[in-house]
Amino acid sequence: MVKKVAILANGGDVSGFNAVIRAIVKTAEENNVECYGFIEGYKGLLNNEYIRLDTYNTASGILHKGGSIIGSSTNSNVFHYKVEENGQVVYKDLSDKCVQNVKDNGFDCVFTLGGDGTQKSARDLSLKGINIIGVPKTIDNDVACTDITFGYNTAVSVAAEAIDRLHTTGETHHRIMVLEVMGRYAGWIALESAIAGGGDVALIPEIPYDINKAAEKIRKRVEKGKRFSIVVVAEGAAPKDGTMSVESTRDNGVGVDNTKLGGAGQRVAKELEALTGLEARNTTLGYMQRGGTPTAFDRVLSTKYGSKAMELALEGKFGVLAVLKDGKLDSVPLEDVVGDNKEIGAVSGNTKESNIRRVTMDHDLVKTARHIGICLGD
Ligand code: F6P
Repeated sequence: MVKKVAILANGGDVSGFNAVIRAIVKTAEENNVECYGFIEGYKGLLNNEYIRLDTYNTASGILHKGGSIIGSSTNSNVFHYKVEENGQVVYKDLSDKCVQNVKDNGFDCVFTLGGDGTQKSARDLSLKGINIIGVPKTIDNDVACTDITFGYNTAVSVAAEAIDRLHTTGETHHRIMVLEVMGRYAGWIALESAIAGGGDVALIPEIPYDINKAAEKIRKRVEKGKRFSIVVVAEGAAPKDGTMSVESTRDNGVGVDNTKLGGAGQRVAKELEALTGLEARNTTLGYMQRGGTPTAFDRVLSTKYGSKAMELALEGKFGVLAVLKDGKLDSVPLEDVVGDNKEIGAVSGNTKESNIRRVTMDHDLVKTARHIGICLGD
């Protein structure tokens, strides 16, 4: 019998975190289950910091709010936790402390809201005997085994609106307008927002690009009287035989991808300017894609995911991820979601080796883009 549960939100934030939290809490309340939230993801689980969540007080009025009322953490891999010992930085496996905290507090289930890195740790904690149910989050839409993650639709909407705005200024000044969007190893945001916003070129990590192809597309448009073009570039897009654009490094722990991407859009803009003779301007959309109000779609998706997760808990189905498969709510073992990458065990995953869902060449979005003449750089 599930009587007391806890939620943790982990990894880079997305719009929809709060909507999932609210749905879990509401479904819990309907079934006389007490709900708690760990503060700042796995960090709160490790430090045993949590608050009571109820829809009349702490979890009230949050459906439309961005961010996370219980915070989130991007650098708290409890299996490789950064600690200082005698002035030295060392990484320790503190997962047993987390297991103990769950047991001591009497939590019958922990819901892990996060991407592939978060779910890897969830899988590992579940192997240690904790009842875990994951919920797939990330704006990149790259969690394996599910059709869609919460937060993605909002990111696409923000990017599409940006493209609309770039359209009018690009058209006025006869420029190539480049928009760099997020998408480290998966180009879902770039591809879908290019279709939604009427982009002419979309460059994604899955297709190493030939800049000449993009230039050709733009030249053709000029020949037909269109003296402006819209180019959407995923931050992880790289030229054929080239590398991704790295801005700096970040400190998200060991075993994870610590590159901070940036510069892909600027690089494409410069090259297109040189090749076409048209002026080009880059805009990097950045964290606008993660913050703010979720779309109606994301509110509904998050609510479905949250209530499904609680339903799974009531059914005693643990060690799974709530997913959407062919439009229907379902669950899959966490092992299927992150199992290809056992040795990493990272909280902030997103490494090349991660078991992430990338854009496939037979996907409808790729086919649609090609059908309507969007250049994908190949
Ligand atoms: O994983 C989601 C994501 O938005 C990536 O697209 C991006 O590279 C990364 O987060 C940036 O995360 P942060 O700057 O918060 O470490």
